[in-house]
Amino acid sequence: MTGEPTASALLILGLCVVSAFSFGQRKPVDAQGHQWWQHAVFYEIYPRSFADSNNDGIGDLKGIESKLGYLQKLGVDAIWITPCYPSPQVDFGYDVSDYENIDPMYGTLADFDHLANVAKGKHIRIIMDFVMNHTSEQHPWFLDSKSSRVSDHRDWYIWRDGKGDGKPPNNWISGFGGSTWKLDPATGQYYYHYFASAQPDLNWRNPAVEKAMFDVTRFWYRHGVSGFRLDAVDLLLEDPELRDNPILAGLNEMGDPKMLEQHNDKLPENHDVLRRLRGVADENGAVLVGETYTDSAAELKEYYGTHNDEIQLPMDFMFCKVDRLSAPEFRKQIALAESTGGWPTYVIGNHDMERSYVRYGDGKHNDEIAKLMAALYLTLRGTPVMYYGEELGMTNNDPMRKEDVKDPMGITGWPGYKGRDGERTPMQWSDGTNAGFTGGTPWLPIPSTYRKYNVASESKDPNSILQFYRHLLRLRHQDRALLDGDYLPLNEDNTNVLSYLRRYQNEAVLVALNMSASVQEINFDLTKQGFSPARMKVLLTTLNSPPKAGGDRVSLEPFAVYVARLSK
Ligand code: GLC
Repeated sequence: MTGEPTASALLILGLCVVSAFSFGQRKPVDAQGHQWWQHAVFYEIYPRSFADSNNDGIGDLKGIESKLGYLQKLGVDAIWITPCYPSPQVDFGYDVSDYENIDPMYGTLADFDHLANVAKGKHIRIIMDFVMNHTSEQHPWFLDSKSSRVSDHRDWYIWRDGKGDGKPPNNWISGFGGSTWKLDPATGQYYYHYFASAQPDLNWRNPAVEKAMFDVTRFWYRHGVSGFRLDAVDLLLEDPELRDNPILAGLNEMGDPKMLEQHNDKLPENHDVLRRLRGVADENGAVLVGETYTDSAAELKEYYGTHNDEIQLPMDFMFCKVDRLSAPEFRKQIALAESTGGWPTYVIGNHDMERSYVRYGDGKHNDEIAKLMAALYLTLRGTPVMYYGEELGMTNNDPMRKEDVKDPMGITGWPGYKGRDGERTPMQWSDGTNAGFTGGTPWLPIPSTYRKYNVASESKDPNSILQFYRHLLRLRHQDRALLDGDYLPLNEDNTNVLSYLRRYQNEAVLVALNMSASVQEINFDLTKQGFSPARMKVLLTTLNSPPKAGGDRVSLEPFAVYVARLSK
């Protein structure tokens, strides 16, 4: 039979395509046995600030849905939506009062299902934020818990008598400033809150808590989510004896004494919970991404689980703690991540830290440096988690006056610490009013740089940061060496240029990044790896005049990116 395919033939073809991309299953996506999340690019969305569909100044789920086409074109495979559950918004959603619903400010559960469906059609998965360490003080569990010493949920939280004379049960300091203990005058006991007092910690030693919380994950799996980002996972359990922590010299950024959080941070028992949580995730073919603030390779390694049975993607914050462009420092951190034997998860920014554009920028070459940082973490072996707006070169817009601060950390920490509002400003869609984010008044002020750094303008500029990200992500998705290849550091003594190979069988991609403000001439000795620089094909570069293929010496302009394919 010849001629045009019939409508029914097209329909059958279409159904085959859809079923080949099946969510929630654990089929390997390559010969190495990698799972979908090892080839995926994740993208964090702070829903208050992404896109506002109803002009109330706050983003929402319909707004996110309207931008899925943008994300697909960018090359994003999974979005992590920070908490959009009902919440009094003391910590902008990280204080959850109902885990199984959507806050009306963001829409409805039906809107979520619709979003999930449309996303699926665009091959974009959804990861929800699992705020598992604490609830809101308005959660019905906590309301019941504080209603009396013998209430059903009393033991769902951590209550203790004080030490007398108005002294709390111990010396622990909250991440949001002050003591971690708040006295409830009605029942005469203190409850524990690592973060704001409006965020009481759950008692994960109580099996009923674990059951209820694991059921929350099952609820969202039924709604089509592909996994969770685990909030504050280092802090799940506390020393049952609540022993004092050792005090260290000096004050932290909130003005409190520094302490070694020996008895309430990264307790070994956390891992038992994680293993069981992973069991539930595995039943649903889901991925767990961890907010894991580790201090060593050993701690990071532990999060994967002794038998790879805990968190598949523990975020490596040691990598992004390298707060300056330094080839030796990044080389060291990559080696450290590689040494765990796990699949690395790289991040350069999120809603809790100053934007990467500012952190790495030198004030003069920020655009070049933004591209360089992208080329670094998007060509490494591992899974990257982007932060919305990073692909545009969005900058921080920190509050100038205390009365403008919205973040509870900024309110307590002012003026030493101005909080996190600066990195949470609305996504910059166009150079129009309010950067095209809302027709109302945006909940946070948009930095004036939006006129240049926005999706519409950058889409028209071939040299923009956005176009660079698009090229890079396309390359990353298509190139086997970038997806699956090993990481082999090159020229390890070079203090200015970070270079490495991603090697896959007989092919390799070479990445060279000039982390300095001066021109760097480099030679690659690839004989050990069996490659000849004579067979180099440039894939992506920011060099104004790319070296001709075949040269073994490359001259890199300040902050230049050079990515080339090698073959044997
Ligand atoms: C995590 C979140 C942060 C939040 C805190 C308390 O660190 O990323 O934004 O304030 O947990 O939930």
